[in-house]
Parts: sequence; structure tokens; C-alpha cells
Amino acid sequence: MYTPSSTRYETMKYNRCGKSGLLLPAVSFGLWHNFGDNASEDNMKDLIFTAFDNGITHFDLANNYGPAPGSAETNFGKILSSDLGDYRDELIISTKAGYDMWPGPYGNWGSRKYLIASLDQSLKRLGLEYVDIFYHHRMDPETPLEETMEALAQIVRSGKALYAGLSNYDGATLEKATAILDELHVPFIINQNRYNIFDRTIEKNGLKEKAKELNKGIICFSPLEQGLLSERYLNGIPEDSRIRTDGRFLKEDRLTSDKLDRIKALNEIAKKRGQTLAEMALAWILKDGYVTSVLVGASKASQILDNIKAIENTAFTLEELKEIDRISVG
Ligand SMILES: NC(=O)c1ccc[n+]([C@@H]2O[C@H](COP(=O)([O-])OP(=O)(O)OC[C@H]3O[C@@H](n4cnc5c(N)ncnc54)[C@H](OP(=O)(O)O)[C@@H]3O)[C@@H](O)[C@H]2O)c1
Repeated sequence: MYTPSSTRYETMKYNRCGKSGLLLPAVSFGLWHNFGDNASEDNMKDLIFTAFDNGITHFDLANNYGPAPGSAETNFGKILSSDLGDYRDELIISTKAGYDMWPGPYGNWGSRKYLIASLDQSLKRLGLEYVDIFYHHRMDPETPLEETMEALAQIVRSGKALYAGLSNYDGATLEKATAILDELHVPFIINQNRYNIFDRTIEKNGLKEKAKELNKGIICFSPLEQGLLSERYLNGIPEDSRIRTDGRFLKEDRLTSDKLDRIKALNEIAKKRGQTLAEMALAWILKDGYVTSVLVGASKASQILDNIKAIENTAFTLEELKEIDRISVG
């Protein structure tokens, strides 16, 4: 039987999510990979317990995480019920709907029909009565925004989620959605978007600035560009790396020789700062206070321990920032 470390709240930093009452750990943990049908139960437990033992209170899921879709929720649900049930009130658990989940016209995108049915399915798989945050997973160009936001409102009113979130929205749509959600008095507090040294989309599509202006939190996914922004690939492609073991979303052709040169140059800056490249990549996201939490994945518990160290130094000199920009987006 698992007993959490008594020192679990001693080192983690907790940041306020927008202007809400909710604090999130500066580093959160996501179950997109390594929690599917073929994942080892021992390793899944090691990852979750290492995270929680070190103050990571926030675990992020989606209806479709696997493979097979849904299996990450089922596997996390088993760990919750066997080991973490007594600690439910110390945990922030999120899930989402918005991508293809079941056959036919009602298992995708942003209709009221899909979102409400999907959350009911997620709760069954997780063995929970409510999640802490429920996200609409991506913008839907066809469904009226009002309908999707009304569905989030109904979900929160029904008690099946405490807070609402939006994922993969841009600044302009975030603004429109916020106006609707405010009118409906929905506790919408957080945006989940991809952001890392290589991917500056949220700086360009207005999301980063708009979230700050509207006092909404941001949690960044793939902060290590799925592992590229680490020491993982400096000397070739390891057999146990995501490119080799999974490859659904991180394909080998993403690691071009140009990219590898950039990764090596970034690694030199990290070394001078006394950080691993992964630590520096996470610190870079947290540097200016716009981002509430970085949402990392991991295949090994040791990676979580490395990633948590990022919060020890999130200050950058102007020269370092310019050099990082020159190498990564120059
Ligand atoms: N909202 C959305 O649309 C969306 C989309 C994608 C992800 N997400 C969320 O974001 C979470 C994180 O995404 P991600 O897994 O792509 O994040 P990531 O942190 O960029 O990549 C995680 C991978 O990087 C490697 N890694 C992690 N720490 C390392 C370290 N210290 N040193 C060396 N390698 C390290 C591991 O890969 P190896 O297997 O190579 O060890 C790990 O599985 C997901 O689990 C999910 O919750 C959300």
C-alpha cells in the first residue's frame, strides 16, 4: 500500500491560476503517453507516486489518451482506487473532449451531445464523481461557440467538473468564449496550449497576451517538444525513447540534422546555466510569470525528478534569451 512522502509539499511552487482560487503546481504531469493498454503497471505507479511525492498535485488526462483511447483514464482510475483514494482532495484531475473518440457523428468536436456524453464516460473510467477541470479540447469551426460554452456551463452546474478550461484555442476565440462564459457565470480559469522554446504559436496567435489580459491561467503542454528539448537525442535515437517506442506523434523525421544542431547549441547554454536542457526548457516557459504550470510527460520517474528542478532557476539574462531565440527560431 502506497503512503505518500511526508515532505511532498516542501519544494514545489504553487501558482495561482489566473485570478481564481485555484493554485496549480508549477510542474504538472500528463498521461498522454505511457499510460495506455501496454504500459507496465509498476512503471505507471512509479510515475504517479514520484510526481505526488514531490508536490505534483495536478494530473492531466483526456478521453482519448491511450492507446486504446480511454485506457489512460481506466489505468489512472485503477491507481486512484487502489492507492490514492484517501488523497482525492489533494489532487487536481483534469480531462477533456474534442477529438475523435467514438464512431458516428456524436463522438467528436464540440457539440453539447458529445461533451456531456464524453465526460460521463470519462468519469466511469476514472471511477470518479467529478473531475476538477474539464476542457473543450480544440476549437470547433462548425459548432456555434455558444453551444459548446453552454455545454461547459451545464457540466459545471451539474457538479461533474469544478472548473472549465479551453485547449488549443487562439486569442480571438478565447476572448469570445470568455464573454459567453462570464455571462453564464462559469468558473472558466485555464487555457491549455502547446508552448516551448521551438513552438511560439501562442505568442503569435494572441493567446498568451489575451489570457493575461483576461486573468486566465495557462498550462503548457509538450514543454519539452515531446522530449526533443532534453539530452535524450544528443547521441542518437535511444531504443527506449518516444520516437522508437511510440512514434504516433513524434516521428523520426522531426529530428532533422538542423534540429539536432539547434538542440546541441541549446544544450551548451543549459550547461553554462548549470541546468540540464530539460530543466532549462521548462524554466524558459516559466520565466515571465505568464504561464501557471508546465505540463510534462515522462517515461521514467527519474525524468520527473529532473523536471521538477527547473523551478530552482527560472531567471534568464537578456543575452541568454537572445541567444535562445537566435538558435531556436532564428
Ligand atoms: N491539450 C492538448 O491538445 C494536448 C496535446 C498534447 C499533450 N497534452 C498534455 O501534455 C502532457 C505532456 O505532453 P508531452 O508528453 O508531449 O510533454 P513533454 O514533456 O514535452 O514530453 C514528454 C517526453 O519527453 C521525455 N522526457 C521528459 N522529461 C525528460 C527529461 N528530464 N530528460 C529527458 N527526456 C525527458 C520523455 O520521453 P521518452 O519517452 O523519450 O523518455 C517524455 O515522455 C500530455 O501528457 C498531456 O497531458 C495536451
